[in-house]
Amino acid sequence: MGDDSIHAVSGGKIPVIIDCDPGHDDAIALMLAFGCGRLDVLGVTTVAGNTTGENAYRNARAVLAHIGAEDVPVARGADGPILRSLHTSRDVHGESGLVGITVPPGLREWGMNAVEFLSSTLRKSETRIVLVPTGPLTNIAIAFLAFPDIKEKVGRIVLMGGAAGQGNVTPSSEYNIYADPEAARIVFRSGVPITMIGLDATHKALVYPSEVEEMRKTGAVGALAARLMDFYSLAYRARGFEGTPVHDALAVAAVFDDEVVETRYAHVDVETCGELTAGRTVVDFRSAGGKVPNAKVAVGVDRERFLGHLMGALAALEGANPA
Ligand code: RIB
Ligand code: CA
Repeated sequence: MGDDSIHAVSGGKIPVIIDCDPGHDDAIALMLAFGCGRLDVLGVTTVAGNTTGENAYRNARAVLAHIGAEDVPVARGADGPILRSLHTSRDVHGESGLVGITVPPGLREWGMNAVEFLSSTLRKSETRIVLVPTGPLTNIAIAFLAFPDIKEKVGRIVLMGGAAGQGNVTPSSEYNIYADPEAARIVFRSGVPITMIGLDATHKALVYPSEVEEMRKTGAVGALAARLMDFYSLAYRARGFEGTPVHDALAVAAVFDDEVVETRYAHVDVETCGELTAGRTVVDFRSAGGKVPNAKVAVGVDRERFLGHLMGALAALEGANPA
């Protein structure tokens, strides 16, 4: 099902839908998606995670307004996980979920539900679409359960989430998977080809303070990105990081550049019951369990290449800041 070799469509750009919980690194990921010139962003769906569903929906529209993409549909999704209570990352992203951005007045109200947008967009597409989730997988899981036929129209899922090694929100688990393990298990068992951009790679996709200063000089959008990084970096500096991992942007880069991450095939499933391990992506590189690989797992990153994409995208969005 699906095929990650299907790329060039609609003028050589890869059609994508980004499902996000902005969140600072989600915001930078949106800037990369729109500025890289390689993706046809058909729409953005939002999900509660880093912040509430209401904030995520507002923040996504605010980012698009700042980068001149206010005409791209934004559909609001789940306000919480399928079964569990919502645990936001207020300690990292602040009360609003995106401290550092000014919310322009008069944001367009799209009045669409994320699951309906995903199903209708996938069903009417003549080509397969790449889904790029950068938050909890709640919307994707619900869409696959409600409309199983749409899985055939997904070329692949390139998600930010999981870890073969250490977690970040617990020793076992990375936040996006931990936030909704049941949703993640549904997605990893869906049969759709997955590229998992987890902490094993994103914790090497660090942006250092000197590079944030370079961002600031690229123009109005770069200055916004730098302001977002100024706040976002605080939590990582407090955790002993010298650079800040822009997790979600690496997932976007991996959609259009196979060389930006090093991946290995593995069978991945998600623990949903463990007291200490709920939300862990159980990554089997050796198929020890005799199970066929269902994912490509990122184990390394070409940081300079990634940074080049990021800086190039911010520069390309210069002048796109009407907000
Ligand atoms: O663990 C990092 C992930 O959790 C990123 O997507 C970040 O935005 C948060 O959602
Ligand atoms: Ca995110």
